[in-house]
Amino acid sequence: MIDPEVGFTSDVIRDPTRFVGRTDLIRDCIKALNAPLGMIALYGKRGVGKSSLLRQIQQMALGDYTLAKKAGLEREIPARPRKYLTVYYACDSMIRSGESLVARLCNDQDDEDGLLRLVPNDGKEIVEFTRSKEASGGADLKVVNWGVKGIESSKYARVVESDVVQTFRNFTNSIIVHQVKNRMHRDSLLILLDEFDVIPGKDGLGSLIKSLSSQELKFGVCGIGHDLANLVEDHASVERLLEHGAIHVKPMSDYETMEILNTAEKLFAGALVFSERVKYEIAKVSEGYPYFTQLLGRECVAKANQKDTKNVSMDVFSEVLDDIRSGRSFPTLERAYQRAIGNSPDRQILLHLLAEQPEERTLFDDDVGRVFLKKVRKDAEDLDIQYIDQLLPRLLDSAFGPVLTRIPERPGIYEFVNPVFRLYVRLRQL
Ligand SMILES: Nc1ncnc2c1ncn2[C@@H]1O[C@H](COP(=O)(O)OP(=O)(O)OP(=O)(O)O)[C@@H](O)[C@H]1O
Ligand SMILES: [Mg+2]
Repeated sequence: MIDPEVGFTSDVIRDPTRFVGRTDLIRDCIKALNAPLGMIALYGKRGVGKSSLLRQIQQMALGDYTLAKKAGLEREIPARPRKYLTVYYACDSMIRSGESLVARLCNDQDDEDGLLRLVPNDGKEIVEFTRSKEASGGADLKVVNWGVKGIESSKYARVVESDVVQTFRNFTNSIIVHQVKNRMHRDSLLILLDEFDVIPGKDGLGSLIKSLSSQELKFGVCGIGHDLANLVEDHASVERLLEHGAIHVKPMSDYETMEILNTAEKLFAGALVFSERVKYEIAKVSEGYPYFTQLLGRECVAKANQKDTKNVSMDVFSEVLDDIRSGRSFPTLERAYQRAIGNSPDRQILLHLLAEQPEERTLFDDDVGRVFLKKVRKDAEDLDIQYIDQLLPRLLDSAFGPVLTRIPERPGIYEFVNPVFRLYVRLRQL
C-alpha cells in the first residue's frame, strides 16, 4: 500500500522541497521582502496557492532562500538579504475591526507562529528552531515553556489597560529590541496575516497597518480577491507601501501543474509512477488550480493501490474519472453539488452549462473564470429549460453555497465562488 500523503497533500505547503513553480511570484516576494519599507499583499482566487506562497515568504524572511535558488533566482537574492523574525496568524470572520485584530495578535498563544511567543518576559523559555528540513534553514524562535506565572508579559512590554493598539506597539517594540535585534541580530519583524479577506470590518485597517509599519515592522496580508481593493478596503492609504508588495497569485501554467506530479513521483521515490499522458490530462482538467491537482493525484494513488499497480496509466486514470463522474470521489464537493442543484434536474443542467462555458480572456482581466448568463440562455432554450430566472437564485444564495457571485460592474455576468467547484462540475456526470 502506498500512502497518498507521501506525495500529495490538500494542506498548505510549508516544506520548500514540495513547493512547485511560481518563479515570477518568488521573484516578487524577494523584492518585497527586501524593500526596507512597505507591506506585502498576496491576493488571488480560492485554492490557487496563496497560503503556500505566504509560508514560503516566511521561510525566506528567516533567511532561507533554498526555494529561490532552486528556482534559478540565485542572482536576484541580495548579497545581504533582509532578515526577519516572523509571526503568522490566520484571521477569521469574528474579527470586527482593526482593534480586534490587534487584540487577537496580542493574545495568540501559538508556540511557533504567535506574536506573544516573542514578547520577552521572566520565566518564559524560548528556543531556536528551523521551519524546514534544509540544513540552511533560517532559525526562528518558539516557546517551549510559557513560565510558571503563565502568560504575563508585563515586565518588558507593558499592557496598557483598554488601549490595545498601544499594548500592541509596546509588545512589538520590545520584541524588536530584545528578540529581533539583540538576540537574533535581524533587521525587522514580519507579521503575516492570512485569510485577511474574511474580516468583515476592514474599514480603517489599511491606515492602521500604515501607522504601525516601519523599517523594523513589516506586514504581509493574504486573502481571496481579484484585486487589492478586495483585500485592503482603504488601500489608498497604503498605496505607497504596496509599491513592491502587491502580488497577484494566478492559476499555474500546465507545465507547473505537471511539475506537481513530477515532484510527487520524486517523493514516492520510485514506488509509483504516472504516465506522461496522465500527467498531461491531469494538468488539463486542473486548469492551474494546484488544489485540484493534489486531489486528483491522491485519487490516482488510491486507485493504483486498489488495482495493485505501481503505474498510474490511462486505464487507472479513466477509472478515477469514472468515480468522480458518478460523485463517489470527493464527498465535500459532491455535497456542495447536491446542495446547489437541490433536486432540480433543470438547475443541474443550468449549472453544467455555466460551468462548461468556455473561458474568455478579457482585455482587462486575465484572471479568468467569469460566466455569462446571456450565452447560457440560448443553450438552455435548446435543451428546453425554461424559467432560468427562477433556477438561478438558489445558485446565488449563500444558504446553498453560494455557487456564484454577481460581478457588480456588469449585469448578467457571474463568477464561480470556488473555481475548484467549477472544475468538479465539469467532470461530474450530468
Ligand atoms: N506551489 C505549489 N506547489 C504544489 N502544490 C501547491 C502549491 N501551491 C498550492 N499547492 C496546493 O494547492 C492547494 C491549495 O493551496 P493553498 O492552501 O496554499 O491555497 P490558497 O490560495 O491559500 O487557498 P484558500 O483560498 O482556500 O485559502 C493545497 O493542496 C496545496 O498543497
Ligand atoms: Mg489560504
